[in-house]
Amino acid sequence: MTDSTDKNDIILRADGLHKSYRMGTTEVRVLKGVDLAVKKGEFVAIIGASGSGKSTLLHILGALDRPNKGVVKFEKRDLSQFSGGELNRFRNGMVGFVFQFYHLLDELSVLENVYLPAMTGRSVLGWFACRRWAKNRAGQLLAQLGLAERAKHKPYQLSGGERQRVAIGRALMNEPKLLLADEPTGNLDSATGNGILKVLERLNRAGQTVVMVTHDERIAQRAGRTVTLIDGKIGHKHTR
Ligand SMILES: Nc1ncnc2c1ncn2[C@@H]1O[C@H](COP(=O)(O)OP(=O)(O)OP(=O)(O)O)[C@@H](O)[C@H]1O
Ligand SMILES: [Mg+2]
Repeated sequence: MTDSTDKNDIILRADGLHKSYRMGTTEVRVLKGVDLAVKKGEFVAIIGASGSGKSTLLHILGALDRPNKGVVKFEKRDLSQFSGGELNRFRNGMVGFVFQFYHLLDELSVLENVYLPAMTGRSVLGWFACRRWAKNRAGQLLAQLGLAERAKHKPYQLSGGERQRVAIGRALMNEPKLLLADEPTGNLDSATGNGILKVLERLNRAGQTVVMVTHDERIAQRAGRTVTLIDGKIGHKHTR
């Protein structure tokens, strides 16, 4: 392992991000020039108060939303220059999202929820060709997440912590280069949340780049580095 700060190590870079929402006649300025660089293999926590714009920022980093101004580059490529097809491939293949409220589909089984991203973007024939592989991979992910016995359950039959582990499995299905997690423990008690953080730590140790937002300092401390979102910008930083 090298500790170089070589620019080539940067997987994600945000420069001067601005984002406002218009509410009737008033404009809510949420991001006012956010700069952030994430290195390959890092586990970064973005901490900020409720309403500080953490989800807004994470959505922009994952191309679920666009900034009004500023640039996001993934592996040096400007997301705003991506074609529709490239954006879909980016959202489905390069990044994995984990949300506070899981966003699982209750009508699908746990296994189906996990392999759903492998179906997305494939033709019927393409899916037919890879479905055995996809189901196997989903099964392996569930086993790694301690959910082998839950594959046939429906999400509503699971506890919150189990649901979040399913959501992590789904996020990992397409082997994303970047895992984005929005308050992944926000809906869980502290022991269960701790289990989720352990999963994220284990993934990071295996090389997964993780960006997590949280309002909780103790949770942020689990990451390798914390940055603070305050007054629409990234404030002071400290490295552990
Ligand atoms: N679609 C929207 N339309 C209008 N205002 C919005 C929209 N989305 C977010 N906002 C506003 O932008 C601000 C930042 O919201 P955001 O959800 O990014 O905050 P957050 O830091 O994730 O908060 P929390 O910790 O509560 O999840 C809030 O004041 C919110 O009301
Ligand atoms: Mg939020």
